[in-house]
Amino acid sequence: MSEDKKNQVSRRQFLNYTLTGVGGFMAAGMLAPMVRFAIDPVLQPEAEGEFVSADIAVEDITTEPQKVTFKVDQVDAWYESTVEKTAFVYKKEDGSIVAFDPTCTHLGCVVGWNTNDDYPQHFYCPCHDGLYTKDGVNVPNTPPTAPLSVYEHKIQNGILYLGKAIPREEA
Ligand code: FES
Repeated sequence: MSEDKKNQVSRRQFLNYTLTGVGGFMAAGMLAPMVRFAIDPVLQPEAEGEFVSADIAVEDITTEPQKVTFKVDQVDAWYESTVEKTAFVYKKEDGSIVAFDPTCTHLGCVVGWNTNDDYPQHFYCPCHDGLYTKDGVNVPNTPPTAPLSVYEHKIQNGILYLGKAIPREEA
């Protein structure tokens, strides 16, 4: 067989190459959007540093913890929803503001301020008698093993805005 004949592409090979190429191109065109859709939440930049109004004026915040509710937009993979959150806010003696996430660090129940007559001036968790002092620190020998998380906050036009709840180290 001459060198020329060896390099020639048969009709069958040509068709094979063409169909494989076109088929591959079409498959890639169909698969790309599917892959993109599947991993889309991973590609989205995390919405960081978002603050929402706690709907309370700074001048109305006292030294006594009070419960405020606020709404945040939550994205869970492809599902977007608005959830209501709560916080306990108060002013410390030096005038600085604290906002605690009321989620118990034991198993996630919701704590209340001053709700148990046996433990006045404490955050109390009714699920397993969890206790926290006013500064949100868990009382030793009660179920919670870490202090209450603290919301990031900022003040804008005299209104309190809350951000992410930041967990604190074990006491
Ligand atoms: S969940 Fe709060 S003490 Fe257990």
